[in-house]
Amino acid sequence: MAPLTCLELGRFNTLGLKSQAARAVRFTDRSQLPALTQLAAQHGPAFVLGGGSNIVLEAQLQRLLIKVETRGVRLIHEDEQHWLVEAEAGENWHDFVRYCLKEGWWGLENLALIPGTVGAAPVQNIGAYGIELDQRLHSVLAWNLTEGRLVEMEGNDCGFAYRDSLFKRAPLGRWLIVAVRFRLPRPWNPVLEYPDLRKHPRICGRDAGGVAVTADDVFEAVCEIRRSKLPDPAVLSNAGSFFKNPIVPAAQYQSLVQRFPSLVAYPANHVSPGHAASAHYKLAAGWLIDQCGWKGKRLGPVGVHERQALVLVNYGGATAEDIRSLSQAIRQDVYDRFGVLLEQEPVAVA
Ligand code: EPU
Repeated sequence: MAPLTCLELGRFNTLGLKSQAARAVRFTDRSQLPALTQLAAQHGPAFVLGGGSNIVLEAQLQRLLIKVETRGVRLIHEDEQHWLVEAEAGENWHDFVRYCLKEGWWGLENLALIPGTVGAAPVQNIGAYGIELDQRLHSVLAWNLTEGRLVEMEGNDCGFAYRDSLFKRAPLGRWLIVAVRFRLPRPWNPVLEYPDLRKHPRICGRDAGGVAVTADDVFEAVCEIRRSKLPDPAVLSNAGSFFKNPIVPAAQYQSLVQRFPSLVAYPANHVSPGHAASAHYKLAAGWLIDQCGWKGKRLGPVGVHERQALVLVNYGGATAEDIRSLSQAIRQDVYDRFGVLLEQEPVAVA
């Protein structure tokens, strides 16, 4: 087991916040798992770091930090209907999607170019362009850090909801995701409902010409759409969508749309357990923030991205406090104008 070290986290979080972990350890092999539980027992609940693309870090982390760096992808099983693929948690998500396509295992192309790691993907049930991870997930292999045991959880046991899972709701330091298994449907059935994707020249051009859309077409189109509206964290630090798209009851949606006819909203067909799907609507938080005049605005070292109001950016040198102030000001304005409370998507880590 590698010794505990002090680790600068500036380049390990996509918001680029300056942060230092006093006690960090690299997780590179499953054989280290029992030792990690011992460390957690000694030093208190750990924070498990994947790609750092969905976190807001305080400047000093006192808690134990486990940086996941395990690698490996394998085909576990295939039949006429599915491919079953397992990937270690430390794999880069986008590289994994690309690798699957290269091998001819399609099904994840709508989730191309999402920053982060494979192990982080189930935590917030990543989703984009008409697909959420839980639709492609077979099971999660997770280490219970507090109890020191390995558990295999099927998709139904993971408590998935929109940008949520039991891993995200659990007390910090409970779970370390070791590997994720994907069940990829073999019959080719592209998911093209998302308006931006349907309208993309690579997709509607093929359709119009009577040529079948391929998984590579979807992959390329998704990459192009994302690059056109979302800043690349390597160029401008950000954590993707900073707020969730709020899900509101139909009655609230009806009253909002009467007052604001151009409101952007969709029937919520994937909502938290206990909510009847048809009775709720998902509002585009980007639109709400945009309407409050925040797009492109700057507050000290942080700001709202000029092409996508849902994304907060760090122009350089920002702290978690700068992000909090901006986020609070936005939430207040949206609440005052629309009566809707925005919920933060990235996890705050102290
Ligand atoms: N809009 C505006 N102004 C803006 C931004 C958006 O008016 O500044 C309106 C537009 O009308 C647009 C609509 O809002 O059509 C929806 O915007 P977009 O298609 O960009 O999607 P989104 O709701 O902003 C969500 C996810 C993204 C995901 C895309 C595509 C959340 C919180 N965000 O964004 O996920 O890539 O859909 O599926 O659900 C992420 O979670 O980090 C993320 C980037």
